This record gives sequence, structure tokens and C-alpha cells, in this order.
Amino acid sequence: MRAVVAESFGGPEVLHLAQVPVPPLRPGEVLVRVAASGVNRADLLQREGRYPPPRGASEILGLEVSGVIDTVGEEVADWQPGDACVALLTGGGYAEYVAVPAGQVIRPPAGVDLVTASGLIEVAATVTSNLSLVGLSAGETFLAHGGTGGIGTFAIQYAVASGARVFATAGSRHKRALCRELGATDAFDYHHDWVAALRRATDRHGADVILDVMGAKYLPPNVDALAADGRLVVIGLQGGRTGTLDLGKLLAKRASVTATGLRGRPAAQKAAICAEVARTVWPLVESGRIKPATETRFPAEDAAAAHRHLASGDAVGKLILTWR
Ligand SMILES: NC(=O)c1ccc[n+]([C@@H]2O[C@H](COP(=O)([O-])OP(=O)(O)OC[C@H]3O[C@@H](n4cnc5c(N)ncnc54)[C@H](OP(=O)(O)O)[C@@H]3O)[C@@H](O)[C@H]2O)c1
Repeated sequence: MRAVVAESFGGPEVLHLAQVPVPPLRPGEVLVRVAASGVNRADLLQREGRYPPPRGASEILGLEVSGVIDTVGEEVADWQPGDACVALLTGGGYAEYVAVPAGQVIRPPAGVDLVTASGLIEVAATVTSNLSLVGLSAGETFLAHGGTGGIGTFAIQYAVASGARVFATAGSRHKRALCRELGATDAFDYHHDWVAALRRATDRHGADVILDVMGAKYLPPNVDALAADGRLVVIGLQGGRTGTLDLGKLLAKRASVTATGLRGRPAAQKAAICAEVARTVWPLVESGRIKPATETRFPAEDAAAAHRHLASGDAVGKLILTWR
């Protein structure tokens, strides 16, 4: 089969198509013939050698795909060859075939083009598992950093659908307008004092829940931006991993800080999250309350161009690799 491989760690130029063996199928797995592969920021880090795959995972990049079931492994009951599917992966998605535990494979939402569906499962699984962990409730105030990224576009729409009052940050006027189009009450320029802007917009209340992709750099302002009993959940470390946490402020607010990573979770947890996505998120997509993000498609042989585009900061929504 063809796969996008990297001969060494480095810039986008290390990515190229190569012939590699089809992955072996273990009991409990299905082999997916891939239609499209979602591109995630984590893929850029892995390409650079800064985000190694968990032990036992494929060295090939790619955390999500859509396609059809090619082969059903032993001990798998629910799938037939030819069934359309999307899959949440620990790796191996930039390839024509990927073997994946059957619990991490679900049907795509009805009415969504199969290529588009490749970019839904990673963001849906990440956002819903984290917002359920910190318990975002209807009526609460929610702040999503990077409101027009892959995670952000989904987080805004999902939080709005959950009945929250939603705010976001973004780096350009155009992107802030897009956040509002997605349903955010307002969006703030992260180059300026977004904590003050949030306070003004919420009559000094702040955010009950913050979904953060910046990590260390935003730890102090995020704590400042939290409301009493607020919850900060960190899922990205774009601003570094080691920061200073003012426990006094946390204590006074009875606030909490959590950080989670989806990729390293045990297969059983991923399966439970995927089942929850199918049960609770797909109906929102099917009814149009959550729309797939704006997407930019690249042929798989242009994976390097896709990585350059995501790294440029100009990308909006999801980038997708398509397989012929
Ligand atoms: N922990 C997990 O399980 C998990 C799962 C999936 C993703 N993630 C992480 O989540 C993050 C987002 O992933 P993605 O795929 O959505 O990436 P993406 O599409 O590249 O989005 C990155 C976002 O970061 C925003 N950003 C950059 N600098 C910022 C700043 N100073 N303040 C606020 N926002 C800023 C960007 O906003 P502008 O475009 O406006 O500059 C953009 O919206 C990544 O760090 C990724 O590794 C974690």
C-alpha cells in the first residue's frame, strides 16, 4: 500500500509517499481502506520528533481517517466489508489501509460526505471527553482558545449546542468574525488583554470552563479568567509545558486545572468515547446544529503542503488528505 512516510525527523519536506506493507490485522481489529486522513497539529509535532507515538503504535502519522471496512478481524461482530466508517487512531492514518481496534471505529454521521467525515472524530472525541470531564453545563460561560482551529471550530459549536454562553480567542479580525458565525457570543484578540475583554463581556464573572490549547504561557491568565468554581482543562501545549500556577488564586476561586491527552488513553477508554460521540454528537451533526468545519483538501502526495499550510497559521478549520 502507499503511505506518507518520514525518513527522518524534520520539516514538511521529510514527508513523501512510499510503498509499505499493509498492517497486520490482530483479533478485535478491522482493516479500514482509507478514503481520507484528517491532519492534526499533533502530526506536525510527531514529524519534528517532538511527539513520539505511544509504544506499539504505528510510526506512520495520522490520528483519524474515514473509509470503508476492508477486512473484519477475529472477535469482531458489528462490521461487514464495505461498511462506511470513521476511525480514531493512535497512529497510522496517513496510509491507504489502517488496522484499528473495532471499538474505535464508528459509522460516519448520516448526510456527511465521507471525505469530510475524516476530520470529525478526533475533534469530537477530544472536545466532548474534556467538556464532560469538567462538566460544562447549560447556562455556564465557556471560553475556547483558538476558536477557528480544528478543535476550536468544533468546541464553539458543541458548547453552543450544549446551552453554554460561548466566547473564543483568535488571532485575526477575520477569524474572530468566523468565531461569531460559529455561534460565539464574542471573540477576543489574543494579541491584546483577552482576560479583561472576557471580564467586561461577562460583567466580571469570567469563564466557568476554559478549553486551553496554549499550556504554560496561558496558565496565569487562564486562572485569572476563571470564574469562582471554574474549571480549566488544558489539551495543548503550544505555549510550553512548564508554567507557574498560583495556588492562592485557585484556592480563593475553588477552581481546578486539569490536563488530558486522548492519544495515550487505553483502547477501552477510546472505545467508550467513540461510542459517546456516535450517540451524542452525530445527531447534532445530522440535524445541522454542528456543521463540519471549513476544510481544505490536499491529495495525500501533497502531505508536505498540508503541513506547511497548517504551520503557517493561515489555516481555518480542518485540513484533509485524500487518497485516490
Ligand atoms: N490533548 C488532546 O487530546 C488533544 C487532542 C487534539 C488536539 N490537541 C491539541 O489542541 C491544539 C489544537 O489542535 P488543532 O488540531 O485544532 O490545531 P489547529 O487547527 O492548528 O489550531 C491551533 C489553534 O491555536 C490557536 N492559537 C495559536 N496561538 C494562540 C494564542 N497565542 N492564543 C490563543 N490561541 C492560539 C490558533 O489560533 P489562530 O489561528 O487564531 O492563530 C488555532 O486556532 C493543539 O495544540 C493540539 O496538539 C490536543
